[in-house]
Amino acid sequence: MPDRKRLVAFRVLGALPRGEQLLDLYRLRFGSLRGYNLEGQRGGLLEMVRLLRGAGRTVEDRDLVEIGTGWHPLLPTVFYGLGARTILMTDVARHVRREFIEDVLDYCLEHAQEIAEIVGRDEVTLKARWSSLRPGRHDWRDVWKDRGISYRAPFDLTHHRLPADSVDIIFSNDCLGYIPKVTLAALVEESTRLLRPGGCVAHDVTVYDDRIIYDRSIPSWDFLSYSEKEWQRVGNPRLHFQNRCRPAEYAQIAAQHGLRMLYEERVMFDLDEAKSLDRSNLHPDYRDLPAEEILCRHYLFAAEKPSSGPATKAP
Ligand SMILES: C[S@@+](CC[C@H](N)C(=O)[O-])C[C@H]1O[C@@H](n2cnc3c(N)ncnc32)[C@H](O)[C@@H]1O
Repeated sequence: MPDRKRLVAFRVLGALPRGEQLLDLYRLRFGSLRGYNLEGQRGGLLEMVRLLRGAGRTVEDRDLVEIGTGWHPLLPTVFYGLGARTILMTDVARHVRREFIEDVLDYCLEHAQEIAEIVGRDEVTLKARWSSLRPGRHDWRDVWKDRGISYRAPFDLTHHRLPADSVDIIFSNDCLGYIPKVTLAALVEESTRLLRPGGCVAHDVTVYDDRIIYDRSIPSWDFLSYSEKEWQRVGNPRLHFQNRCRPAEYAQIAAQHGLRMLYEERVMFDLDEAKSLDRSNLHPDYRDLPAEEILCRHYLFAAEKPSSGPATKAP
C-alpha cells in the first residue's frame, strides 16, 4: 500500500475502539500476516542469541518476561526449549492466535537441527520440549501455562505491579522503537524494580525508519529528516508509532535507571547504503550525530541490575 494511504488507514483504524484488532484482521487477509514466513525472524533469533552470549547470560532455569510478544512467539518458544523456568509474554495488544502458535511449533520442529546449532543445544531435547507445547484439543494458553509460559495481553508492564526482584531476564525484539519516550523510561524503571539483583534486560531494538518496508524509495533514516512536530503529523499514527530514539539514548535511559551495561552492539547498514547518506537532508536535531547513531539498523543492548545493593537512579 502506498505510504500516504497506509498513513490514512492507520489514522482511521486508530480512531476506532477496536482498531488494533481490525488492523490484525486486515493484515491476516491482505497484509503482512498472510502466508507469513517465520524465516524472517531468524535474524532476530541470531541477534538475541549473540546478545545473551555477549552478556554472559543463559535462560536455563531462569524466570523471563518478554515485552511486546507480537504475533508469532518464536523467542519464547526457543527459550522454553532451552529450559527457561517461567516465561511471561506481554503485549499492549492481543495479537497471538492459536494458528500462530501452531506455525511457530511447526517451524521450530521442522528447523530443529538448525536452531540446535544456533543455540548450541541438542536437537532431541529441544524437539521433546517443543512437542510438549502442542495444544492438541486444548486451549493453547492452558497447555502453555501448565509448562510455565503465560500470555498476558492487553497488558502494560508499567500499569501492573508484578512482584519486585522476581525476574532474571526481561527481553524484547523489535519492540522498544515503537514505544513513546516517556513510556520507555517508565518501562526501564519498572524493569529495574522487577529484576532480581544481577538480573538483566536484553533488548534488540529496530532503530531505522520502518516505512522502508512499504516504500523502498525512501532511505532507511528518512524519519530523521523531520522535526518532532512534523514527524507527529506525517509519520506517526497511534497504531504505528516510531520514537526515533538513537542507540545512545537507550543506553542513557538504562544508565539513568541504575542499570549497568553488559553488552551493546550496533548492527549497521551496509556500506553502499551508508554512502548515500546526505546529512544536509537531516533535521538539525540529528545532522551532527556520529555515523553509528544514524546508520544503525538494530541496536542490541543488555544491562544488569547491580547485585551489590539496589540500583540507584542517576540524576
Ligand atoms: C514490531 S512488533 C514485534 C513483535 C515481536 N516481538 C517480533 O519480534 O515479531 C512490536 C510489538 O510491540 C508491541 N508493543 C508496542 N508498544 C508496547 C508497549 N508499550 N508494551 C508492550 N508491548 C508493546 C506491539 O503491540 C507489537 O506486538
